[in-house]
Amino acid sequence: QAFFKSIMNAEPSSPTKRHTKISVVGAGNVGMAIAQTILTQDLTDELVLVDAIPDKLRGEMLDLQHAAAFLPRTRIQASTDYSVTVGSDLCIVTAGARQIHGESRLNLLQRNVSLFKKIIPPLVRYSPDTILLIVSNPVDVLTYVAWKLSGFPSNRVIGSGTNLDSSRFRFLIADHLDVNAQDVQAFIVGEHGDSSVALWSSISVGGVPVLSFLEKQQITYEKEMLEAIHKEVTESAYEVIRLKGYTSWAIGYSVANLARSILRDQRRVHPVSVLAKGFYDIQDGEVFLSLPAQLGRGGVLGVTNVHLTQEEKHRLMDSATTILQVQNHLSI
Ligand code: NAI
Ligand code: LAC
Repeated sequence: QAFFKSIMNAEPSSPTKRHTKISVVGAGNVGMAIAQTILTQDLTDELVLVDAIPDKLRGEMLDLQHAAAFLPRTRIQASTDYSVTVGSDLCIVTAGARQIHGESRLNLLQRNVSLFKKIIPPLVRYSPDTILLIVSNPVDVLTYVAWKLSGFPSNRVIGSGTNLDSSRFRFLIADHLDVNAQDVQAFIVGEHGDSSVALWSSISVGGVPVLSFLEKQQITYEKEMLEAIHKEVTESAYEVIRLKGYTSWAIGYSVANLARSILRDQRRVHPVSVLAKGFYDIQDGEVFLSLPAQLGRGGVLGVTNVHLTQEEKHRLMDSATTILQVQNHLSI
C-alpha cells in the first residue's frame, strides 16, 4: 500500500529538473568539507563519496545521512568501488597525500601522480561525459596529469587553482579596507602556490578600480600594502597547516562555488587551472595554470582576455616555467 494515494487520473510524475550527480573522491579533511558545503548549498540530487578506507568512508556517509532532517533531500552513497560513481556530472578529486608542516605542494607530486593513475581511469570509465574538477596538490600539475590520463577535451578538466588564493586575497583586501569581501573583485592567477601572480589591475572595490583610485589620491604606500597582502596569501596555507595541520573550510567553500557555476550553468568567471597554452604568450608546453575562465555546464566555456602589465605577464611566464620544470620530469 503506497504511503500516498495518487489523485484521480494523475499523470505519472517524471522529474523535469535535470538530475545531478556529484562524486567526491577522497573523504578526508578537504573532501568532507566540500561534501558538507555541497549538501548545505543544495547543489546536487545525488552525492557519492569514494575513498580507500572503507570504515572511514561508511562513517562519513552515515554521519552526513543523519543530518537529512536539516538538509535538502539528497541521496548520499559511498563505496570503495568506483562503479558507485557511474553517470556523475561532476567528479571532484581530493584524494592524495597532503603537505606536512614545512613541505611544499610540489613535494607531493610523485606520490599523488601514482594515485591518479589508479583513480582517473575508473572515473572516466564510469562517467565518460563527466567534468573532472581536480583539488589534490600540486593541483596544476595534477590537473595536467588528469587531462592526459582521461583523454578528455581540456574544457572538461579543471583545477580548483587560485580560486582559493583569490578568495584569501579578497578577504585580506576587504579586511584592510573594512568592506565586504563580496564587493572586492581581485584575481590571483598562475600557480596555486608560491609563484602565484596578483593582477593588481583587476582589483576593484564596489566596481571602483583600486589602483587608479590610489594613483588619483596619490596614495603610494597602498601599493606596498597590496604587495604585502599578496605575500600573506602565498603564506596562508603554510600558516594554517602549521596551526591546525591542514586547510579545509576555505577550499570546501571554494570548490562548492565552482561546482555551482558548472552545474547551474552560471557562466561566471573564476580563476581556475586550465590548459593555458596559447593564452597570454604561454606557448611552450601543455601547462595548466589559473587564468580567469568562464565556467558553465560544459566546463570551461572560455578564457577572458584580461589586460596584463608587462610585470604581470613576466610573473605569469615565471609561474608557467615553475610548473613545466616539474611537469617535464613526469612519467605518466
Ligand atoms: P587527507 O589525508 O585528509 O585526505 C586524503 C584522502 O585521500 C584520505 O581519506 C585517503 O584515504 C584518501 N585516498 C588515498 N588514496 C586513495 C585512493 N586510491 N582512492 C580514494 N581515496 C584515496 O588530506 P586532505 O587534507 O583532505 O588533502 C587532500 C589533498 O587536497 C591534498 O593533496 C592537499 O594538498 C589537497 N588540497 C588542495 C587544496 C587546493 O587549494 N587545491 C587545498 C587544500 C588541500
Ligand atoms: C592551500 C593548500 C593546502 O590550502 O593547497 O592552499
